Amino acid sequence: MLTHEQIEKSNTWMIILTLLAVIWGGLVEIVPLFFQTSTTKPVNELVKPYDALRLAGREIYIREGCYNCHSQMIRPFRAETERYGHYSVAGEFVYDHPFQWGSKRTGPDLQRVGGRYSDQWHRIHLLNPRDVVPESNMPGYYWLDRPVKEPNIGAKMAALRVVGVPYTDKEIADAPAALKDKTELDALIAYLQGLGTALKQTR
Ligand code: HEC
Repeated sequence: MLTHEQIEKSNTWMIILTLLAVIWGGLVEIVPLFFQTSTTKPVNELVKPYDALRLAGREIYIREGCYNCHSQMIRPFRAETERYGHYSVAGEFVYDHPFQWGSKRTGPDLQRVGGRYSDQWHRIHLLNPRDVVPESNMPGYYWLDRPVKEPNIGAKMAALRVVGVPYTDKEIADAPAALKDKTELDALIAYLQGLGTALKQTR
């Protein structure tokens, strides 16, 4: 039988037993998350897969690196919930692959920005933030006023279906038509306006 002292004095035993402890601890913490309904099922019936236009907007959000300045993760603290609304729960993100939680907040958290401003406000703000928020240091995205080019939108939805987003064949087939005559601004604004609306805002 190994004594504590023998283990502490032997590099080999120390390494092997530390690894086993870390692996076991990791399994106990991580594995249950794959099976809990709170992390695998939508929190309510308002959480829906992104339609084609919102999905295209989400791609633009990622392409333009909005996540470098904006998180989408409201922590369960009073200072956060008073400012942004209901704290984030895992069941809101079941159709996000990958999620856009982020961790850098040069700008405010965007998880509950859906419905907070009009489409027109977003349009002006995205083209030149200083037109509506004079002190803003957010860059203007003036090139977004151009047609959406997402020839692979159907394939993207089909790929998301493989990882569990329940798109129907019809939704996938109709996707390119949904983007017709839309601009990148339209798509990005549709995405922003849908953010976080499944849980009622507290402000
Ligand atoms: C360099 C950092 C930076 C980047 C990159 C950035 N933002 Fe911002 N954003 C800010 C700051 C700072 C504010 C707060 C001032 C303002 O409203 O303009 C803000 C505010 C916002 C708001 C208003 C939020 C609210 O609750 O009032 C929205 C919506 C927004 N940004 C969307 C975007 C989108 C979409 C992108 C990507 C296309 C983006 N931002 C990229 C810094 C950034």
